[in-house]
Amino acid sequence: MSATPPPRTDKVTVPNLLNRKHKGGKIVCLTAYDYPFARILDQAGIDLVLVGDSLATTRLGHDSTLPLRVKDVLAHLKAVRRGLQRALLVADLPYGSYHLSSKETLKTALKFVKAGAEAVKIEGGARRSRLVRRLVRAEIPVMGHVGLTPQSLHVMGGYRVQGKSPESAEAVMADALALQEAGAFAVVLEGVPEALAFQVTQELRIPTIGIGAGPHCDGQILVCDDLFGLSFSRKPKFVRQYVDLREILSQATRQYIGDCLSGDFPSRKETYYPTEFPRLEEALKR
Ligand code: KIV
Repeated sequence: MSATPPPRTDKVTVPNLLNRKHKGGKIVCLTAYDYPFARILDQAGIDLVLVGDSLATTRLGHDSTLPLRVKDVLAHLKAVRRGLQRALLVADLPYGSYHLSSKETLKTALKFVKAGAEAVKIEGGARRSRLVRRLVRAEIPVMGHVGLTPQSLHVMGGYRVQGKSPESAEAVMADALALQEAGAFAVVLEGVPEALAFQVTQELRIPTIGIGAGPHCDGQILVCDDLFGLSFSRKPKFVRQYVDLREILSQATRQYIGDCLSGDFPSRKETYYPTEFPRLEEALKR
């Protein structure tokens, strides 16, 4: 693990990120779903915060991202907005919010922008090109997402690495190129072999942000609950966990229960105007 960099203070924008690709600088991203996490990540110097649809599994207890609703994203997006100053804020379009019509999609994306998102993310490659164009024409920056797209769970038959065969690799490359042509400002590459991520990153003018895609992308993203050890699901191979918050929080909870049961909490220091009982009884008599 490398040394902690000093916090950065310049506001991150879409043009900054495009520039960063051309200068060869890395883009460091995480998901966040609430105010305290957003503040902590922002103050530590994260470039981009995604209110990901992983909200469904990490914080709302669903077993996939499919049940997530637009109003769930909106509530969490507003909280995250209040916690950020520097990072670029991107909101994920949940499953079902962009499948009915481009007008519906645009309406949802506009709601997200009005709630403070600076861009939206949409899963799927070439088949989303028309939608991406429509959103970009409405001045909404769009981040694409190709490779393993968790909202396609049932079509993929599970969460499977994509782009392993030559045909599948070509399809991932074609998807990324189609999104770039449609005007996306960045593309998330999820669950693809390192060599394919390298080629896509070389080919595109816009940044690639990898998750389970190896080290050659222009940036990296992880689900913050995985990084912090808060997740209850199996840890994917590509995750590096930096702290075991679940264990730390469980231990703190057990200590609190013990202190309450033993009478150790609250102490005199944690009590307003602690009084000796005999003196109180006298005061009440008067
Ligand atoms: O919702 C999510 O967590 C994502 C990942 C790419 C980080 O879409």
